[in-house]
Amino acid sequence: MEAASLPVTDKVALVGDGGPPSKRSGNQLERSQDAALAALGAVSSYLDSDEDIPSFFARLSATVAKQTRARRAAFWRLGPRGTLALQPAPWGFAGDSPVYAVRLQLGARGESVIERLVFGDDLELVKGTCPELDAIWHESGLPDVKNSVAVPWRAGERRIGAVVVYDSRHGFSARDIWVLRLFGMAAGLLWQYKESEDELGHTASRLEEAMVARRHLLNNIAAGGDEARRRFASALHDDSLQLLTAAELQLERCRTDSNGSHQTVQLDQLRHTLRKVEDSLRRLLTNVSPEPLQLPSDLRGAISERLESLRIRAGIEPYIDTRLPAGVPPAIQAIVLKNIAEALNNVEKHARATKVVVDAQVVDGGIRVEVGDDGTGFVVAESVRMPGHIGLVAMRERAQLAGGWCRIVSEPGNGTRIEFWVPMSL
Ligand SMILES: Nc1ncnc2c1ncn2[C@@H]1O[C@H](COP(=O)(O)OP(=O)(O)OP(=O)(O)O)[C@@H](O)[C@H]1O
Ligand SMILES: [Mg+2]
Repeated sequence: MEAASLPVTDKVALVGDGGPPSKRSGNQLERSQDAALAALGAVSSYLDSDEDIPSFFARLSATVAKQTRARRAAFWRLGPRGTLALQPAPWGFAGDSPVYAVRLQLGARGESVIERLVFGDDLELVKGTCPELDAIWHESGLPDVKNSVAVPWRAGERRIGAVVVYDSRHGFSARDIWVLRLFGMAAGLLWQYKESEDELGHTASRLEEAMVARRHLLNNIAAGGDEARRRFASALHDDSLQLLTAAELQLERCRTDSNGSHQTVQLDQLRHTLRKVEDSLRRLLTNVSPEPLQLPSDLRGAISERLESLRIRAGIEPYIDTRLPAGVPPAIQAIVLKNIAEALNNVEKHARATKVVVDAQVVDGGIRVEVGDDGTGFVVAESVRMPGHIGLVAMRERAQLAGGWCRIVSEPGNGTRIEFWVPMSL
């Protein structure tokens, strides 16, 4: 008998140095190896399957019981308030067993035993059982527990709870405790894996929320310029122009009242000036009124149109190569068009170029655009920091906000190349 061959009292910690018992027969070695394989096998089979956690622990508890020749086995998990409660599902307990309601408080009665069990790992094995532990089960409404041993359930230095086996026919041995430790560590590994999986799930959902927020932001930014112009135009129209009209009407009444006096000439001049002010404000209104966001059904058409007007206005010869699909999301179209428009404005304003090339293709699930000119070129590091000049910075920000990138390649005398990529989906 294995238990009979052990010393009557054996400090569990003495055999807990990570290795199997030193005095072992070939048979014992074989069983230890079986146990190690069973523990690792149980964890790796969980990683490979879609098994839920309670089924996994039911299976693991059954394997632990078998390997230690126990009638019952359970994992007890430490809760946030220092309470040990049963991890579903234990092995060998009847469905109506009081064990399910047991809560062992670290700080309450029996504190030293539970604390030593979870944190100390040094319960005494006496005649095939841990008497201190048995006393706890008896006090907790499990008087039929004959013997029990336990070890911490841990992941590295972190304590997750305890693994307990109950009721071995011949009592538990030091080897059983060694086996139990193996299972405690295997279950710890599994727990760490599960926690990382949960954390990954949370991170993924936080990422998804951030993506939704980014999409909103991007759509707002795409429409943002128009919105600012709309507000300015309506303020101009509804406030300034209406006040001006009221002033003109008052002036008209004054003029009628003046009835040919010497003031009439001055009032006529004033009326003339006010009309000029009104005309200029109306012209301003026409300029700032938001164009409806012209998103052509055909991006290529829109790009060609811009290039054609550049050719007519500045005599710069355009070359265009675009292969873009239909159905690009409007916010992405807006970014592509705004960036190309800014790059072409810069060519017209600064480059003194003779030709400009626009190349737009679908690359890596996004749209990659290159606008190149053969003009003067410039020192990029200086120009992107010029106060009040925001075209290049805004291009880069638009692309990055959409999850893409923007590169500006230029040097004096060597023309300029603007490249950007934006993902096709937001
Ligand atoms: N294609 C280009 N060729 C030569 N110089 C350029 C070109 N593009 C930009 N630059 C230089 O980079 C500077 C910054 O360009 P950016 O578009 O940021 O500002 P901007 O065009 O001057 O003003 P805005 O804010 O109206 O766009 C320009 O003033 C110009 O000196
Ligand atoms: Mg510019």
